[in-house]
Amino acid sequence: MRTSFYLTRFLTLLLFVVFPFYLGFRGAASLSDSAVLLSSLSERAEALYIALTSQPAAPLAPISKEAFEASAEHAKPVRATEGGRRKRYPSLPDGLAHCINSFEQYPFLAEQVLQRKHGRYAKQTPAQKAISKKLGYPAHFEKARKGIEVNARFSRQVARIAREAYHTGPQALEDEEEAEFRVVDFAFGHLSRDWSTQGAKERQAVFPSVLDGLEQHFGRNGRGKKVLVPGSGMGRLASDIADLGYDVTANELDYGAILAYHLLTNHTSSLHQHTLQPFVTKWTHQASPSSRYAALTVPDHWPNKTVKLVEGDFLEMFPQDGEFDAVVTLFFIDIGDNVVDFLSNIHRLLNPGGVWINLGPLKWGTHTALQLSAEEVLQLADLLGFDVDHTSRKSIDSVYAEQQDSLLKFIYGECLAFHCEG
Ligand SMILES: C[S@@+](CC[C@H](N)C(=O)[O-])C[C@H]1O[C@@H](n2cnc3c(N)ncnc32)[C@H](O)[C@@H]1O
Repeated sequence: MRTSFYLTRFLTLLLFVVFPFYLGFRGAASLSDSAVLLSSLSERAEALYIALTSQPAAPLAPISKEAFEASAEHAKPVRATEGGRRKRYPSLPDGLAHCINSFEQYPFLAEQVLQRKHGRYAKQTPAQKAISKKLGYPAHFEKARKGIEVNARFSRQVARIAREAYHTGPQALEDEEEAEFRVVDFAFGHLSRDWSTQGAKERQAVFPSVLDGLEQHFGRNGRGKKVLVPGSGMGRLASDIADLGYDVTANELDYGAILAYHLLTNHTSSLHQHTLQPFVTKWTHQASPSSRYAALTVPDHWPNKTVKLVEGDFLEMFPQDGEFDAVVTLFFIDIGDNVVDFLSNIHRLLNPGGVWINLGPLKWGTHTALQLSAEEVLQLADLLGFDVDHTSRKSIDSVYAEQQDSLLKFIYGECLAFHCEG
């Protein structure tokens, strides 16, 4: 109470004494100057209020050289989530408005990508342009535009259905310029990997090992066993596990994936209904002039509707200990801030005798607290109480959401695959 009393007096003093004095002193301060000043004053006042009302922090211990080096590496890129931007609709889950906006704005965002390419093309000398024309290069811009229109039909549908499902109404959910091309671009790549015939080869490289792991553990008694797939992405693995009779819960926090999956699962009436040209704005590493226009259709298989999708953070959405008979992680454990939290949570969620099956790389981000080797991941599992089956350890080479005939293949060499009991 006392704090807010003093704060009010402080603000009154600022507004009616210091601020007019400042304007008089500056003489010709413009209106925009004043607005900037007012907003910075209000930010300072807010910061002061927070500082005054929050608990005093414990004094910081002096930082060691090792800790300093580690924290310098910690420079986590600020993720473009709702956290950093002004939310117009705080009732919507984090990230949802941004993804809807991005799907809606896709045609404009993709056109910008094209415009940048065209800008570089147009800067050529007349002689260079004449040669480019002989190669048929200018035609790429028109063809790409047609591909963008094909993709836009899908992206607009995703956005429209999301608006209906989350009752957003028709109004703009955030500033148009906050939309991100990569939200939709990632979604297209992942749709291709999970739900197109072209993605079958990639899936075949990794899914059987996971499915065999479940069969090894449960034999023929898997039907009805509860399986959690955290970080389920576009949901194909969860769906394939459910096809085998398991009771599957998928969990995902990225609305780019959640919304596209929602369209496939709940608003699709025939296989191969949706056409995409996911690589239409990617002109590098192409084998032939036409490979950038490769079209694919989704879904190539019916998503299993018995899968329950839990939206949100895996670390927060499952309060009940021992809820699952199996946890399956595919390309997941290296993605969080701290692998100890992920593995501890998996252990907590398994019932006694339950199994954790993992397959994926150790592509730790620079933001992660620990960047462990494969050996250390297994040691960590031991330390957390898992009974690691070392005979199950395999190394598998895999690509991830790549264009099939791309000239550049990013291979995750020796993805770590293993099972352990909880
Ligand atoms: C590399 S992708 C793999 C997706 C999927 N497992 C697959 O193999 O296609 C990792 C996924 O985990 C999701 N994810 C990351 N952190 C998460 C968390 N804390 N809770 C739930 N999902 C998370 C990401 O949004 C992303 O879709």
